[in-house]
Amino acid sequence: MNYLVVGSGLFGSVFAHEAAKRGHNVQVLEKRDHIGGNIYTREIEGIQVHEYGAHIFHTNMKNIWDYIGQFAEFNNFVNSPIANYKGDIYNLPFNMNTFNKLWGVITPDEARNKIEEQKEKIHLQGNPKNLEEQAISLIGLDVYQKLVKGYTEKQWGKSAKDLPAFIIRRLPVRFTYDNNYFNDRYQGIPIGGYTQIIEKLLDNPLISIKTNTDFFSNKEEYLKSDYRIIFTGMIDQFFNYSLGELEYRSLKFETEVLNQDNYQGNAAVNYTDAETPFTRIIEHKHFEFGKGNKGKTVITREYPKKWTRGDDPYYPINNKRNKELYSKYADEAKRDYPNVLFGGRLGQYRYYNMDQTIMSALQAVKREFEE
Ligand code: FDA
Repeated sequence: MNYLVVGSGLFGSVFAHEAAKRGHNVQVLEKRDHIGGNIYTREIEGIQVHEYGAHIFHTNMKNIWDYIGQFAEFNNFVNSPIANYKGDIYNLPFNMNTFNKLWGVITPDEARNKIEEQKEKIHLQGNPKNLEEQAISLIGLDVYQKLVKGYTEKQWGKSAKDLPAFIIRRLPVRFTYDNNYFNDRYQGIPIGGYTQIIEKLLDNPLISIKTNTDFFSNKEEYLKSDYRIIFTGMIDQFFNYSLGELEYRSLKFETEVLNQDNYQGNAAVNYTDAETPFTRIIEHKHFEFGKGNKGKTVITREYPKKWTRGDDPYYPINNKRNKELYSKYADEAKRDYPNVLFGGRLGQYRYYNMDQTIMSALQAVKREFEE
């Protein structure tokens, strides 16, 4: 069988790798001028720059950790972001360090009492009607106002009063002095960046790669050919948005090289006030413990924005309308295009983390080759 893999992100690359390993020819098409999709990293001043936003690998699945470990050595980076609220610094996720800074409390019992006291101050009638009420009912007013409200409103481009409560089902709260953001067993950053992983996945004489090539400029030809197609682009675009557009949030990245060794002392700093227009600043060298040229650092400011056609789609918006619309496209795909497999974050309209993307690609491989 000959495969046409549309998109050289993690899903497409894992699939291509596994298909070629089984002796199949694979043609990879990528519309960007480089491979790797959103995990792509580019070296600037000896620093691996995460071009499409911070990417921290974390998983509880040992088989996935072992799988990715074949293609890069991972360091022992632990994600411990901090929040900057109008010049005051707080640790994330919300933990004893955060509560100590906010209220001066020392013990977990003191912190629990303080949160209860905060919640009691606000008497909400019935179930939370919006995100603001939901957040306050979970964590109280202080944390909400300083660390949740501004950040969330910038991220979604809407007032917290107009956002549905379900977006925040729970807020992770830890009554320990532990700043490790993730609870997963395995975590790290590939030493030397992510792009090498994709390069190694696609390094097989049976795989050929065309960058700067958009599937849609030749869609009908490809569909008529004898290729089995693995499509990891946007499923609604595949159908020319015939049933309507799926919604996304997009981002604008502003990257700057600075003539200093250390700008902010941490990989990620979230700006949680409403006035600062960006949500966070990433200082890339801290993902690799300060590697890079002396006297240089690279930072990226992240500005959330509404997605319109032509923008990069980053976050699927999983509300009822979009879920139903996606289902309709998925049904149409099954019925009319049995020879096309829709995969990955855009093909399945899901917010997959990297480990879930790999898992999903390996499951697709198993089904494809009936193993
Ligand atoms: P991906 O979008 O990477 O690849 C799709 C590829 O298809 C792209 O290269 C695109 O150009 C190409 N394409 C689309 N249409 C095409 C067409 N018509 N013709 C040709 N090519 C086409 N995960 C995690 O575990 N830890 C983290 O810290 C983060 N952080 C993070 C930050 C941000 C800002 C985002 C948006 C995402 C994350 N992720 C993450 C998630 C992670 O990026 C994700 O799991 C994988 O990149 C998904 O890989 P895919 O191959 O599915 O899509």
